[in-house]
Amino acid sequence: MHFPKDFVWGAASAAYQVEGAAQEGDKGLSVWDTFSREPGKTWQGETGAVACDHYHRYKEDVTLMKGIGLQAYRFSVSWPRVMPAGTGAVSAQGLDFYDRLTDELLAAGIEPWVTLFHWDYPHDLYLRGGWLNPESPRWFADYSEVIVKKLSDRVTNWMTLNEPQCFIGLGHDQGCHAPGLKLNRAESLLAAHHVMLAHGLSVQVIRAHASRPARVGWAPVGMAGVPASDSPEDLAALHQHVFRVGKGFLWNNAWWGDPVVLGHYPEIGLRTFGNDVPKFTEAEMRTIKQPLDFYGANIYGSPLIKATPDGGYVEQTYHEGFPQTHSYWEVTPESLYWGPKLLHERYKLPIVVTENGMSNADWVSLDGQVHDPQRIDLLHRYLLQLHRAMAEGVDVRGYFHWSIMDNYEWADGYKQRFGLIHVDYPTQKRTPKDSARWYTEVIRSNGACL
Ligand code: NOJ
Repeated sequence: MHFPKDFVWGAASAAYQVEGAAQEGDKGLSVWDTFSREPGKTWQGETGAVACDHYHRYKEDVTLMKGIGLQAYRFSVSWPRVMPAGTGAVSAQGLDFYDRLTDELLAAGIEPWVTLFHWDYPHDLYLRGGWLNPESPRWFADYSEVIVKKLSDRVTNWMTLNEPQCFIGLGHDQGCHAPGLKLNRAESLLAAHHVMLAHGLSVQVIRAHASRPARVGWAPVGMAGVPASDSPEDLAALHQHVFRVGKGFLWNNAWWGDPVVLGHYPEIGLRTFGNDVPKFTEAEMRTIKQPLDFYGANIYGSPLIKATPDGGYVEQTYHEGFPQTHSYWEVTPESLYWGPKLLHERYKLPIVVTENGMSNADWVSLDGQVHDPQRIDLLHRYLLQLHRAMAEGVDVRGYFHWSIMDNYEWADGYKQRFGLIHVDYPTQKRTPKDSARWYTEVIRSNGACL
């Protein structure tokens, strides 16, 4: 089993999910601060006010990362921590946290990979219309400039946005994530258009202001699928599913990936959405399409896709008793074969798996250790499939495990544990799980032990 010499083995997190210190210093509120405080919005009313207290414990956490042998750590910057009102004044204290975190990582030999936006949108900007405001792309670009000017002397790898399908789909269409809106289809598509413009402007800003050559990508949901068989019909159906635009109109790769990489909305979406498609100009599409160095993809699981006789497809249910994680996501290792393969074929960019992992019912055993054989087995299976894709020529540059430690799983509160490191929230005690030790060996052997 060979992974390329410079393959990057990392783990990931996001500001609101781990930092806590929600009202430390002059940090502004994010929509997640306000949304999670509203009764009934999250599991048991839990918020990220304290989370893993990573803001205060980052040194201990970086030491643990070093112990695991992590080569790279993907973290996000909290926009309202750095710019309390979202635009204008910059908090020196807020910026300083990311400065210190970056230095700490580099001193530990860990490469920082920075996500500029992972859902904690400034509440003040939300009050000004948020992603529906035509100025919102500019706001994001200005914020990006502040971060890039501060960190780009040490940070090379950047991701603009994390999972726009989720923060627009769940946050603005379905309303189960912050800011909890249920917009109509035209409004959601307008917000999505602004998000893509924000991405494009941000890439321009990164390239213009980075003090050394930057590698820039983004981290959308990588919608994958598993074919019901290897018949040509089922494979064609899989392709249709992965790039379909229609039902569940924001839940796809192509409505987002096509503009960002190819510079145009997919025809089928334009036809299906008709007058709900926002008015856009050619100049805007040129802004959205910026050269990227990699296509990030967050991939966890996939539906089973079967062709139907009329040339369409159905999502089949998995058989009774099919393996599931603690959050009831099906264990489908082939997602990490088909996802990277099909995204690479369509977008012709190097792929980075920016997230993959599972929620497990982990606890500290009588022996003081956290035994998570399910996570080890799941990772093993998924990584074998990733390798299979790579052996067939898919250019994959890195893998980031979600997550470095248990954290705040948004509307699910602290119910789901995705970490390589267990966190006991009342005491904030960290315990590396068996999977962390297993991952150490994967990294050390560059995958040869798989
Ligand atoms: C997607 C998101 O980017 C991350 O914030 C979340 O915790 C994980 N996947 C698991 O659901």
